[in-house]
Amino acid sequence: RVAPLRHLHTVTTAPRFNIAFDIDGVLIKGKQVIPQTRRALELLQENKISYVLLTNGGGMLESEKADQLTKKLGFYVNPDHLIVSHSPMRSLVPKYRDANIMVVGGQGSACKHAAHNYGFKNVVTPEEIHSVHPSVCPISTCETRAVPWTEKGLENVDKPVDAVMVFHDSNDWGRDLQVCLDALVSKDGKLGTIKDSDQLHNTKQTVPIYFSNPDIVWANEYPVPRFGQGTFRVCLEKIYQNLTGQPLEYITYGKPMRTTYEYAESLLDKIDPLPKGPDGQPAKRTVYAVGDNPYADIAGATGYGWSSVLVRTGVFRPKGEENHHVHPATTVVDHVEDAVRWIIAREN
Ligand code: G3P
Ligand code: MG
Repeated sequence: RVAPLRHLHTVTTAPRFNIAFDIDGVLIKGKQVIPQTRRALELLQENKISYVLLTNGGGMLESEKADQLTKKLGFYVNPDHLIVSHSPMRSLVPKYRDANIMVVGGQGSACKHAAHNYGFKNVVTPEEIHSVHPSVCPISTCETRAVPWTEKGLENVDKPVDAVMVFHDSNDWGRDLQVCLDALVSKDGKLGTIKDSDQLHNTKQTVPIYFSNPDIVWANEYPVPRFGQGTFRVCLEKIYQNLTGQPLEYITYGKPMRTTYEYAESLLDKIDPLPKGPDGQPAKRTVYAVGDNPYADIAGATGYGWSSVLVRTGVFRPKGEENHHVHPATTVVDHVEDAVRWIIAREN
């Protein structure tokens, strides 16, 4: 257990380490702000520690998420220091810039807006498809629209889908599982068709699918963890396997994937550039990840060579000193303030 450091001397020069904070289960739990978050963030300021927020959450532009967090935390969150689950999916823009991509997840058009901002020119959502074709998902309700083909954004509804990108947790699993499956088995991305001889079995996957977050569960204010985007994917994998006899092929971003940590490190290089060593190469960066999910935050940090601090306020709950049995962290503490105090003490 980390003894609280009462007389923490303030560091005068910027310390040579960074911290990557997870959000859900570390700083907040759904609508609730974790009590120790404010003091932890103040300690970062007092000690001039450069940090990033690294979340498997998202569903909106980084700037919108940062605004939402600033209001919730009562503490300024710089959008340039925030990585959401789909931030690294910017790397897909060169391949799909002019394609028609179906973006799944989040509320309303926030994910579509983020995708356009990243540079994807043609974006369609399951909500739009359902509003124009209510029979696509008879089990879900939708605000049925007349067919206003002139309305901006609906022109892509009946275009073939070139790729599916799941940006955030679905707000209608029945509809989104159905529409994603439709795309995956379609003839050249044309929804409402089936690729191989109009029968599903042995249909080869036509359309690639990308996920932004492997989390099977995550921690909000409910007493036990909730389904994450990873569980949505597991459902789609099972449905696809049952109907076609083939395993679903997919690519996932988000913690613990290496692509996400490479993206986070590129952000830290901008925020807190390291001096070059005598060989002209930048010094090795020291980063501590603070997280609540061993399968995401700890596994990802360890895999990328970062140290890690596991907190007991989110997905990981056992009391006492034990660590996680599969993905042990560098240390385990009760909450985010103890995590920051432990890191500062270790680096001083
Ligand atoms: O949907 C967000 C959830 O999967 C986890 O978010 O901040 O704990 O990585 P976070
Ligand atoms: Mg978390």
